[in-house]
Amino acid sequence: SKGAAMVTAVAYRLADQRRQITETLDEFRLTNDQLLEVKKRMRTEIQNGLGKKTHDSATVKMWPTYVRSTPDGSEKGDFLALDLGGTNFRVLLVKIRSGKRRTVEMHNKIYAIPMEVMQGTGEELFDHIVQCISDFLDYMGMKNTRLPLGFTFSFPCRQTSLDAGILVTWTKGFKATDCEGENVVGLLREGIKRREEFDLDVVAVVNDTVGTMMTCAYEEATCEVGLIAGTGSNACYMEEMRNIETVEGDVGRMCVNMEWGAFGDNGCLDDIRTEYDRAVDDLSLNPGKQRYEKMCSGMYLGEIVRNILIDLTKRGFLFRGQISETLKTRGIFETKFLSQIESDRLALLQVRSILQQLGLDSTCDDSIIVKEVCGTVSHRAAQLCGAGMAAVVDKIRENRGLDQMDITVGVDGTLYKLHPHFSGIMNQTVKELAPKCNVNFFLSEDGSGKGAALITAVGCRMREQEEK
Ligand code: GLC
Repeated sequence: SKGAAMVTAVAYRLADQRRQITETLDEFRLTNDQLLEVKKRMRTEIQNGLGKKTHDSATVKMWPTYVRSTPDGSEKGDFLALDLGGTNFRVLLVKIRSGKRRTVEMHNKIYAIPMEVMQGTGEELFDHIVQCISDFLDYMGMKNTRLPLGFTFSFPCRQTSLDAGILVTWTKGFKATDCEGENVVGLLREGIKRREEFDLDVVAVVNDTVGTMMTCAYEEATCEVGLIAGTGSNACYMEEMRNIETVEGDVGRMCVNMEWGAFGDNGCLDDIRTEYDRAVDDLSLNPGKQRYEKMCSGMYLGEIVRNILIDLTKRGFLFRGQISETLKTRGIFETKFLSQIESDRLALLQVRSILQQLGLDSTCDDSIIVKEVCGTVSHRAAQLCGAGMAAVVDKIRENRGLDQMDITVGVDGTLYKLHPHFSGIMNQTVKELAPKCNVNFFLSEDGSGKGAALITAVGCRMREQEEK
């Protein structure tokens, strides 16, 4: 009959639609062999970053940090810390007490950095930062003490000492002019001078990964790796001095800031990047740069999702084929929304209500597809991040000539902390890809404050020793 024929036609169309959606998402599903290959390629790039002859053309830069040891518990004093480059800009006062009862007391205030300041001139950016410090010192009643300061500046820096870091290139959402190629500690000191209101002793410039590692190492001595899975993605670890050919000396270890976000910038991940990854990259503030970060981190996952949703809508599989203004808006799917959508405790109705909050009218079928898209994209992100980490821990194990190794990784970042599945999938991937390492992930909160203060404390101690 005619009715039956129509039902068959609809069923046929739905099955075809299903097949096309699955095919689209299949591009994001990586096989074990592909992940092993990613690990291997990361290892090659690590080698290139460390080598004297290969460093200049390397993509994963492996910047020396001049942090030569993890904390030993003797660190003490009052320190100011700045945290620039994560979800929030913060100023912190950190009081570290050593001895039998080690304590760390922290006070902090969050400040907004308006978009026009993030993408204005360098002078405006640093004046704004100094203005925030001024407000904080007033708030704490500490304007008249010349505090030592640790500057957590979470961008790629070429360091020549603990207190000098030349910004190589902005990443994530920043784009202030006249900063690239400059020593950011100098820019900060000049800003403080311009204001003529208080004085500070800038002792260290610190990457957030390094602060995270140090914070974790303060509690757990086996921690020699730091990982950030947040707005951006990056890692650091203690490398043997003899392997860091870009620094004089062969004795002991130094922490290297990998800047692994740039992995793939030479095209070595092109075979696994999808058209959606390319679209996200092309529309970003830094096209062609930080390609691995754009597949792994919170600032971009939502954008990948949005690009897939737009495509599926265009093909008539979602939102009744209507691309709304909301869907055209960059940045709507923040990490917290992705995390909510993927939460297992949520009923589909609640997923729909989140989409509604974002301004997207969905049917029940739509919400199922949206959840599936989010899950696929974050699954790949966690696996890729795990493949990178597997390369790092195996390198450390080989450095030490061990057949089997226990190691702790200090981790921080919104994606790691908020997302319901990211951490589990990443841990699992590392287990599978680096079976000779027993990796213990340790959530290390507030590395950018505590860690920066610990590094500053070590920096002050070293300086005193030199003066003697
Ligand atoms: C970006 C920055 C890097 C930072 C990471 C995490 O990749 O370039 O320095 O560690 O984000 O915040």
